[in-house]
Amino acid sequence: MCALRAAAGLCSIAVMSSSPASTPWHPASWRSRPATQQPAYANPNELEQVIASLARLPPLVVSWEIEALREQLAQAQRGERFLLQGGDCAESFEDCESDRIAKKLKVLLQMSLVLLQGLRRPVIRIGRFAGQYAKPRSTDTETREGITLPSYRGDNVNRPGFTAAEREPDPKLLLRGYERAALTLNFIRSLIDGGFTDLHHPEYWDLAFLKHSPLQKAYQKIVDSIAESLDFFESMSGLRVHDANRVDFFTSHEGLHLLSEQAQTRYIERKEKWYNLSTHMPWVGMRTANLDGAHIEYFRGIANPIGVKVGAGMNEEWLQGLVQILNPQNQPGRLTLIHRFGAKDIERRLPELIQAVRATGSQVLWICDPMHGNTETTAGGIKTRRFDKILAEVEASFRIHEECGSQLGGVHIELTGDDVTECMGGARGLAESDLARAYRSQVDPRLNAEQALELAMLIARRSSGKSARINRV
Ligand code: PEP
Ligand code: CO
Repeated sequence: MCALRAAAGLCSIAVMSSSPASTPWHPASWRSRPATQQPAYANPNELEQVIASLARLPPLVVSWEIEALREQLAQAQRGERFLLQGGDCAESFEDCESDRIAKKLKVLLQMSLVLLQGLRRPVIRIGRFAGQYAKPRSTDTETREGITLPSYRGDNVNRPGFTAAEREPDPKLLLRGYERAALTLNFIRSLIDGGFTDLHHPEYWDLAFLKHSPLQKAYQKIVDSIAESLDFFESMSGLRVHDANRVDFFTSHEGLHLLSEQAQTRYIERKEKWYNLSTHMPWVGMRTANLDGAHIEYFRGIANPIGVKVGAGMNEEWLQGLVQILNPQNQPGRLTLIHRFGAKDIERRLPELIQAVRATGSQVLWICDPMHGNTETTAGGIKTRRFDKILAEVEASFRIHEECGSQLGGVHIELTGDDVTECMGGARGLAESDLARAYRSQVDPRLNAEQALELAMLIARRSSGKSARINRV
């Protein structure tokens, strides 16, 4: 390895040909561009020390897992797989405990089982976890009763309590975040290695709430039908279907805090590429997706598959520019576009953006985030989302893609395995008056386990040609 590269991770290796990204790339080349959504630290020396420590610590994921995911995403682009990406809006350090992690995993597994059965396609499971600790905010400060403090930007940056001390960005939190991501991932890998994701044992994923849920019967029917299919296949072929694979679960987070992303970006000699080894699939939010901004400069040079959020405020030229800068070689599986228009804007905006991407000749994977365009605030000031609007956006996405000769290849959901009351509607018809009962999110409202499972069931129903209704008990 080149000594300079080894020492600082700053040696340039890749020259991109397409404009405007025609300058040499290296993991720190983003520093010459305007970087939005970065915290202002009071002590630059301490920050530098923390970043140097992060750069020395071992990676959380490895390049062959990342390449395996890219290959699966390429299959999803061809309609051979479906992507389920989900987890908290923001993970919190406090929630890094076995029960909460296992519950989140269980919900994602249950959803993927339901989707597998309905869609008849293998499901790629990507958690918004093990590193989802930094958040973009619409304002730098928050004012309460005449007091103005820096906004909470996720546990990697500062703390949610409304005091000057808690809101002060603290570089050491980046190390705490790295450690919690490692602990989370270690636990998830152990569960998977131990057979937790084995399709033969869906009972491992049972969640207590389901016993009393109106969805229980419908879910059990799906589980039984999969057990029957497995049994049939295994008796016919004499083979056993194995699903307990180490790389069966992938991680993702928003690649927002550029210094820490840079510190975890490593050169893999054998592949002659730079990878962000803190996660399998980082994504870039729309607030940081300016064509000549620092985030796009950073993202264009890493070899991971990447996601880009696409909202109603994005126009055709902007999106075409992103596709060209981020995937100039038109590499299969490289680029996932996560559209999040909201039920009100999707009809108007999605068709023209599908056409705009098609005009570039680039292959992308389109998935729908039905959460972020459907956020509203109640009269009482509580941030929430309505289940019906979330479902409406997913349904419209399937239909519009089909009408445009494209296809919806996955969904991106904010959810938790806990029994929270943050989004309204769903099988139990949560109302505005229920929100206060168990609202835990510091940032965006998440579907609770039951609402998330119901959404998966409705997607599966729709795709298997049945009406989008579930017989509730
Ligand atoms: C998010 O995914 O939590 C988020 C902030 O999304 P967006 O960038 O789409 O608003
Ligand atoms: Co969010």
